[in-house]
Amino acid sequence: MARILITSALPYINGIKHLGNLAGSMLPADVYARFQRARGHEVLALCATDEHGTPAELAAAAAGQDVRAYCDEQHALQKRVGEGFGLSWDWFGRSSSPQNRVLTQHFCEVLEKNGLIEERTDKMIYSVADGRFLPDRYVEGICPICAFPHARGDQCDNCGSLLDPLDLKEPYSAISGSRELEVRETRHLYLLQSKLAGRIRAWVDERSAAWPPLTRSIAYKHLDEGLIDRGITRDLSWGVPVAKGGKPRPGFEDKVFYVWFDAPIEYFAVAQEWGEATGNDWARWWRTDQGADDVRYVEFMGKDNVAFHTVSFPATVLGSDEPWKTVDSLKSFNWLNWYGGKFSTSSRRGVFMDAALELLPADYWRWYLTANAPESADSPFTWEHFQNTVNSDLANVLGNFVNRILKFAETRFEGVVPAGGEPGELEARLFKDIGAGLEALTASLDGMSFRKAAQDVRDLWVIGNGYLTEAAPWTAIKTDPERAAMIVRTGLNLACLFGRVSTPFIPFAAASIACAFEGGDGAPWPQADGAAELSRLALGSKVAAPPVLFAKIEDAQVAEWTERFGGADTVQP
Ligand code: 2FM
Ligand code: ZN
Repeated sequence: MARILITSALPYINGIKHLGNLAGSMLPADVYARFQRARGHEVLALCATDEHGTPAELAAAAAGQDVRAYCDEQHALQKRVGEGFGLSWDWFGRSSSPQNRVLTQHFCEVLEKNGLIEERTDKMIYSVADGRFLPDRYVEGICPICAFPHARGDQCDNCGSLLDPLDLKEPYSAISGSRELEVRETRHLYLLQSKLAGRIRAWVDERSAAWPPLTRSIAYKHLDEGLIDRGITRDLSWGVPVAKGGKPRPGFEDKVFYVWFDAPIEYFAVAQEWGEATGNDWARWWRTDQGADDVRYVEFMGKDNVAFHTVSFPATVLGSDEPWKTVDSLKSFNWLNWYGGKFSTSSRRGVFMDAALELLPADYWRWYLTANAPESADSPFTWEHFQNTVNSDLANVLGNFVNRILKFAETRFEGVVPAGGEPGELEARLFKDIGAGLEALTASLDGMSFRKAAQDVRDLWVIGNGYLTEAAPWTAIKTDPERAAMIVRTGLNLACLFGRVSTPFIPFAAASIACAFEGGDGAPWPQADGAAELSRLALGSKVAAPPVLFAKIEDAQVAEWTERFGGADTVQP
């Protein structure tokens, strides 16, 4: 049994996340975690809200709330919605936790001891009207790379470039809109990444063979551009205070650590939060001197986060010279697009997780977003595509199969798994096809190829439907009851197997399928052995058709949702 540590990008606290955020990190992390648990591995799945920095301050100000109160409320909301989607975290923590404060301050001290931190005088944008410095997202303007008119000081949402507020053209304050901006001097701490460039490249060289091409190319792009020293403090009041020897660092009383310095450290801290709350030992997952050497650490994130995790955060960890576990596999995603443009939290563009759950149960979204995961390229979301996918895969293929066979067993075989008959040629072919399909599915999930994995599951469902149509138990029962019994037994085993293999993707429907079979839950992940997997159900055990698993999405619903959420006629701001 392996130990697998799984994390996904920590969602910003500034509001419920949209389906693009879900599709590109939290959902695939959950599909993978559920799969590895089902295989019997020991899994620790962690996530947390990313609560510091300008995103939090700006959102709290817009909501007219104190930042701490805003974060408390939003954390609870995000946790509830995530659980509504079946995200099976072992812990969903908070980067504003005391554990993260202590660890973040610790890393800075250790890095400084190792000669990797320097105090520098910086030029920063100061807003006369607001009477304060404007770090990161507090300043907006035209992107110097792609000319997007609303680029933020830290990053352009349009082209993904990491920016310095001073790079923006025609900048203005995101607080007041004022253009009365000056460049003033302020002191900040810098992490001397330039000194670590060789070590980071060696680490990337060693790890990146196991990374997908998107991750690898982003990592090398940033390494090849050259690592520059990075400011890790900001003129803000909300965040981890800058301390030295347990006291506020002189000259830094009004400053905090940069959100991108403390957020990744939360991956360690959230394990501590989990450990303290549950009595578990967090260190065996994260400290290579305390047993984490044999942990496989897998991260999931959108492509905009990759540079932080392949370069910046490794600089913090490697520079500490402490025995922390670093990432083994880093699965990154492109964008899920909304009608040719982007989903956007700040512009409330697209469908958000809470609204999605009001429309339809989680499994409908989970299936669509996994089957269309933006893996090798950006993927478009349209209501029509969503409708077609759900109706054809879930309602017509899986739902129909499960319903057909269970109803037939109820009406013609008294709701039990019937004995009698022997497998014939048709079954021999079925066993072979199912065995091969199971092997493909397991390999796809293990390799984190999510679109392919969804295709593999769907192929299994299609094989089952094809078998039932060809074997036609409703005809056989008139002439050969023994053969009909054998077909129904095989069909019931297929339905039960479909529940098991669907668990990572659609856990709620899978649980409902499992309940249809006496002793149907708790079976391990199937082996690639069709004959064995299709003869598991005990003869004479009870079965009962579940309520309709998936209702078809009607055209009228699509029309209503297009009207309500926008769609074909929306253009990117
Ligand atoms: O892009 C984002 O949503 C960030 N909040 C991700 C942070 S991941 C980590 F490093 F903390
Ligand atoms: Zn840009």
